[in-house]
Amino acid sequence: MPQHSALKPAALAVGGLALTGAACVAYATGYEVRAFALRHAVLPVLPVGRAPLRVLHLSDLHLVPSQRAKREWVRGLADLEPDLVVTTGDNLAHLDAVPAVLDTYGELLHRPGVFVLGSNDYWAPEPRNWAAYLWRKSAPDDVQGTRLPTDDLVRGLSEAGWLDLDNARGRLRVGDVDLEFVGVDDPHLRYDRYEDVAGPAAADADLTVGVTHAPYRRTLDAMTSDGAGLLIAGHTHGGQVCVPGYGALVTNCDLPREQVKGLSRWSAGGHDAWLHVSAGLGTSPYSPFRFACRPEATLLELVPVR
Ligand SMILES: [Fe+2]
Repeated sequence: MPQHSALKPAALAVGGLALTGAACVAYATGYEVRAFALRHAVLPVLPVGRAPLRVLHLSDLHLVPSQRAKREWVRGLADLEPDLVVTTGDNLAHLDAVPAVLDTYGELLHRPGVFVLGSNDYWAPEPRNWAAYLWRKSAPDDVQGTRLPTDDLVRGLSEAGWLDLDNARGRLRVGDVDLEFVGVDDPHLRYDRYEDVAGPAAADADLTVGVTHAPYRRTLDAMTSDGAGLLIAGHTHGGQVCVPGYGALVTNCDLPREQVKGLSRWSAGGHDAWLHVSAGLGTSPYSPFRFACRPEATLLELVPVR
């Protein structure tokens, strides 16, 4: 009958779409979310004559203690023997995760390091509508809910010798390189107080590095205007769900979509800086999927300008 012959192709199309969708969900939740990747990037930011510096950038671990594959992969990064570790927040995804985070960083805690906190270091994850991630653009989370043991995390990292850059400045000499840092607490929660740490980059430092969890424009602009030559951030998860050939749909902040992860340039106040945004290593336990956006850590090789 005519109705049946018209319905058959439509039914096949709907069935095909449903199967494709199910396959994508299975891939995103069953494989890619644990397909950890190490990226490399080279940045010409040091004065002529300085030896290269290898900086391991970790972000958005979102650790639940039972996540063994993630913990083992991150622990293995100590074999890289980086000169410096930078973590840009969102370490926790469970009330009991602090000991597991410290154990996961493991030997890396014996290297020089700096850190800032993200919203998920303060507040426990809560169930969300998965689709909300795709339409949430720049509005900060109006938290709140269950507090996490933030002080225990800060104490553990600080006792290992890592520098807490939450609304703070600091200096580290790594190898023969004199680094200055300026950092803020999470701008996504409006915990940033850049005015407390604002000021021109130190003239006697080889490089000033700005560190923030969420790469909001106000933070990147302020750090760049003050002369930071390198900005390091996380938070975006690289978009977490990307469209092959198009990229991220959202950045979860006001960062332009094209700069959602990896290296790019940032200009403000007559100054230019390199910006590195990590796609991060985890996700909220309530949105355990990634598509066309593998979890990652990055080895940034800082080399002299040519
Ligand atoms: Fe995150």
